Amino acid sequence: MEQGTQTWTENLQQNPNLRPLTPRVGVEVIGIDLASVTNSELDFIIDAFNKHAALLFRDQKLSNEDLIRFSRDLGDLDEAPVNEAGKTAVPGLPELYVVSNIRDTDGKPIGSLGAGEATWHSDMSYLENPPDASLLYAIEVPPSGGNTWISGMFAALEDMPHELRKKVEGRRIKHDGTYNSGGYVRQGLQANDDPRTCDGTLHPAICAHPSSGKPVLYLGRRRNAYVDGLSLEQSEALLDELWAHATRDDYCYAHEWCVGDLLMWDNRSTLHRRDPFDADTRRLMHRTQVKGKSSPQSA
Ligand code: OGA
Ligand code: MN
Repeated sequence: MEQGTQTWTENLQQNPNLRPLTPRVGVEVIGIDLASVTNSELDFIIDAFNKHAALLFRDQKLSNEDLIRFSRDLGDLDEAPVNEAGKTAVPGLPELYVVSNIRDTDGKPIGSLGAGEATWHSDMSYLENPPDASLLYAIEVPPSGGNTWISGMFAALEDMPHELRKKVEGRRIKHDGTYNSGGYVRQGLQANDDPRTCDGTLHPAICAHPSSGKPVLYLGRRRNAYVDGLSLEQSEALLDELWAHATRDDYCYAHEWCVGDLLMWDNRSTLHRRDPFDADTRRLMHRTQVKGKSSPQSA
């Protein structure tokens, strides 16, 4: 994704099947049916993904098997983690993760994240090898709310004030494993709100993106984050400054969902969050996750 504004524009002009979602991150891919992707379409999708970090496909009609088949074309898939109510994935389809506020007849949530806000994060960044990509497919959407936001971390790093970049260069950040983005304690862990002692993994703050080698900001999640080697006060101050910068509107795309939309994002070069929505309305999304092929490497 080596791109000054020039390369970005040129790339889009050469591709009538790509429509930018924002000037800095994300494109809509037009005219591809994800239930029957050809080899050349797959090459096109992977190239667009590497360049634009988030792809939107509208008007899809995907069975669970179609979603898994297309996701597998992008790499090996993670098995879905158990949700906050201790439920595992859809029987027979261990790669499918359900994101939903809907409850079953016993009153247990059928999926994860409820109806509240999901705060900014990149998926499972507390792993040694976090997932490369996530795909989210809309099956039922509420009449309002529940928008998913993407923020582009190449652009955030390109624009980062020199003084701030100097403070973070060469540093590692701890990515908390205790809480998910909905604020729920992950299965098998105890609540812990001390960033110094919480369960988590250190990753370089500025990583080389595996597809291009280009440096990218890697923040993961704010809660319980900790800049290795600093006092807690210094770490909190630096993280607040970094997060305020990385989530500026200039780098963001907010997606308003329609049934049949599929949004996929690169966890190595974007953050995402979700707006809350009315808990009395229904939202049902199916998600797959492409396994991480490597651990984040310093740029
Ligand atoms: C996710 C996630 C946000 C949403 O599935 O990883 O953060 O909009 N979902 O449901
Ligand atoms: Mn997520």
